[in-house]
Amino acid sequence: MSEKSLSVKQAIRERRSIKLFNGEPVNKEEVLAIFEEAKWAPNHGNRQPWRVVLAVDEGLQKLADVIREFVVPNWKELPEEEVSKKMAKFTTPGAVAFIIMPQDLRQKERLEDYAAASSFIQNAQLLAWDEGIGTCWKTPGWLEKPEFLKALGVEAGERPISMLQFGHFDAIPNDKPKKSVEEFVTFF
Ligand SMILES: Cc1cc2nc3c(=O)[nH]c(=O)nc-3n(C[C@H](O)[C@H](O)[C@H](O)COP(=O)(O)O)c2cc1C
Repeated sequence: MSEKSLSVKQAIRERRSIKLFNGEPVNKEEVLAIFEEAKWAPNHGNRQPWRVVLAVDEGLQKLADVIREFVVPNWKELPEEEVSKKMAKFTTPGAVAFIIMPQDLRQKERLEDYAAASSFIQNAQLLAWDEGIGTCWKTPGWLEKPEFLKALGVEAGERPISMLQFGHFDAIPNDKPKKSVEEFVTFF
């Protein structure tokens, strides 16, 4: 981790989801260091309801081979260039993490766990941003398909809630308009 960090306020305010990565690899140790800090997310009962499957280095190609079946099912019939183009948003991140959480049968606990795992993800996004690494939390439809769950090693009673892409980027997207605080706060 770098010595000089953004303030919490700056990191929250300036982070953007990066959807266009430049293809540079992301160092495995750097991603692990991000998760080492992200694990301090709030969570009820210290259940720490998350685990991560990380694709980095040679794992990225293996992951791309799996994803291709869902994104371009007819890839064998298409020119390589067309397949590469369709796959670009999955092959240009430098590391990809799948955040998997337990599916507690009790609704309250399940919602708490989703909130906690989401806080963990947000922490990771902010920490990555602080390191100059972009992220995007993605939930493609195939994330829940049985064939993908099997390839990912998701057990019964678990659920992946995020494909978190990490990568380097050349441009920061503009921010989007947000509601003013008066629009979403009322007083008790
Ligand atoms: C639960 C969740 C699911 C998301 N799924 C996707 C997705 O499937 N594809 C995508 O491009 N962005 C996805 N995003 C990212 C949002 O598009 C992004 O956060 C939103 O546009 C606000 O932009 P910002 O993160 O730069 O502030 C997701 C974000 C969240 C929190």
